[in-house]
Amino acid sequence: MDQRALGKRTVGAIGLGGMPMSVEGRPDEARSIATIHAALDAGVTLIDTADAYHLHPGEAGHNEALIARALVAYGARRDDVLVATKSGHVRPGDGTWAVNGDPAYLKYAARASAQRLGGDSIGLHQFHRPDPRVPYADSVGAFAELLDDGVIAMAGISNANVDQIREAHHVLGGRLTSVQNQFSPAFVSSYDELQLCAELGVAFIPWSPLGGIGKAGDVGTRFHAFQHVADARGISAQQVVLAWELALGDHVIPIPGASRPSSILDSAAAAEIELTAEELEQLAPTLDA
Ligand SMILES: NC(=O)c1ccc[n+]([C@@H]2O[C@H](COP(=O)([O-])OP(=O)(O)OC[C@H]3O[C@@H](n4cnc5c(N)ncnc54)[C@H](OP(=O)(O)O)[C@@H]3O)[C@@H](O)[C@H]2O)c1
Repeated sequence: MDQRALGKRTVGAIGLGGMPMSVEGRPDEARSIATIHAALDAGVTLIDTADAYHLHPGEAGHNEALIARALVAYGARRDDVLVATKSGHVRPGDGTWAVNGDPAYLKYAARASAQRLGGDSIGLHQFHRPDPRVPYADSVGAFAELLDDGVIAMAGISNANVDQIREAHHVLGGRLTSVQNQFSPAFVSSYDELQLCAELGVAFIPWSPLGGIGKAGDVGTRFHAFQHVADARGISAQQVVLAWELALGDHVIPIPGASRPSSILDSAAAAEIELTAEELEQLAPTLDA
């Protein structure tokens, strides 16, 4: 299994994204637990979640609590798995998403997440999305305090541009561990941020690495070069996409979402795939789109 460093931790190169198990179209709990257990069986040691991964108002933390139950049922030790959560997004109802970057709220939300995850502190906590009503430095400043107070062990940001990454790195006193941005063959415009993270020694975590819920299945039809490589190797186009993302840098850790065991088992196997120079050449034009 390919291993990568994330701050002081070493994780499997492929993580599990928890969102499909808690939002629209989510499965029953038994299938979700089986999905998380399949990921652990496959060597996945990073699980991404957020307090906002839920469906109905009033059930904030649905996905965090689900993951915590799954880890207990599996008998996983706290050091075996890094659970990365986020706050700063809220779901007020009717399927809508809103942001709240108020520092006092972020500090309250982090403590609530830590409690749901069943520990005194969060392994990796990420600021979910900038709130245009709050200065970015103020929101990220809450994460600096959470680090100082030991409520979170590592701090990350999400949906950040290059200026915000540099600002967060500064506000956190060089303690920025990760940046989680959308990145896939269908969304390459955050390649600048991916490169900046390499320069700063910060992990880059592509979200929706297969193109997103409901679109991941046809990534090979939409992006033929990936399907060609997949057909030649006799593997799935999704595995080629993830292997390509891993090849973009040792700091890249994709987190494909899943709501069924077969999806994460297929995705996790991408950590073992090393694309050849010739294959990478075929896929290179993807970044020019
Ligand atoms: N920071 C942010 O703002 C943000 C935003 C969105 C997502 N995220 C995070 O990123 C994670 C991944 O993004 P995502 O879930 O939106 O999109 P994604 O990973 O691109 O796609 C998820 C879908 O892909 C399917 N899938 C996974 N592996 C597959 C495979 N090997 N072959 C075929 N289909 C496969 C899954 O199907 P099944 O459901 O049928 O298993 C799942 O529904 C999320 O779960 C979440 O943790 C973060």
